[in-house]
Amino acid sequence: MLEQPPLSHPLPDLVSSVLVFPQASQTAHVRVTAKLKEPLDNFTVCLRSYTDLRRPYSLFSCATKKQSNEILLFKPGPGQYELSVGDKPLLFTVPTSLGQSEHVCVSWESSTGIVGFWFNGKPWPRKGLRKGYTVGVPASIVLGQDQDSFGGGFDEKQSFVGEISSVYMWDKGISNSGVVSAMYDSPEQAPVFGWRNFPYKIVGEVYLKP
Ligand SMILES: *[C@@H]1O[C@H](CO)[C@@H](O)[C@H](O)[C@H]1NC(C)=O
Repeated sequence: MLEQPPLSHPLPDLVSSVLVFPQASQTAHVRVTAKLKEPLDNFTVCLRSYTDLRRPYSLFSCATKKQSNEILLFKPGPGQYELSVGDKPLLFTVPTSLGQSEHVCVSWESSTGIVGFWFNGKPWPRKGLRKGYTVGVPASIVLGQDQDSFGGGFDEKQSFVGEISSVYMWDKGISNSGVVSAMYDSPEQAPVFGWRNFPYKIVGEVYLKP
């Protein structure tokens, strides 16, 4: 797998593009190169994915040197999403929808531990975990692989195959209308990073395609 040269435009607008992960791999991934400056008491992550995988896979993995599952958005199997914060997992059950892309947002606030989950723009019942925790920095953020160490420790059996797009992260909570806006790539609030000016680096076999 070749490491691709750095992109000439550092923050491209990817609005009509998707990242294609063509095959299971222990190396292929996309690094989000934005730096989280402060530890996080609140966050929201949104993304769209399109796959026919039925095995477990990782969508969004945020690791620190101390904690490899600082934030992990993982799909254990069809009809399930799992959000981990500080290595504690929380499961959400969703309809299975073969042949359709799925848009999800997850949010977490430290003061209550409440986790929000939206599936295709619809809010799911809120639950919670890790009240009082703080998501640390510096963080390594990876799409399409599960980090078992800072920036690495990938497992091919948990690699993503398919398409990922519309990736956004905020250092705050989000409203239902904010979720829908993000789903249409016109976020209401400025994200820490987002698809309209996405700071990323492709590593290995991943392609940006219309
Ligand atoms: C996190 O969210 C809570 C509740 O919405 C808010 O009170 C708090 O100020 C936020 N923390 C930061 C650092 O923004």
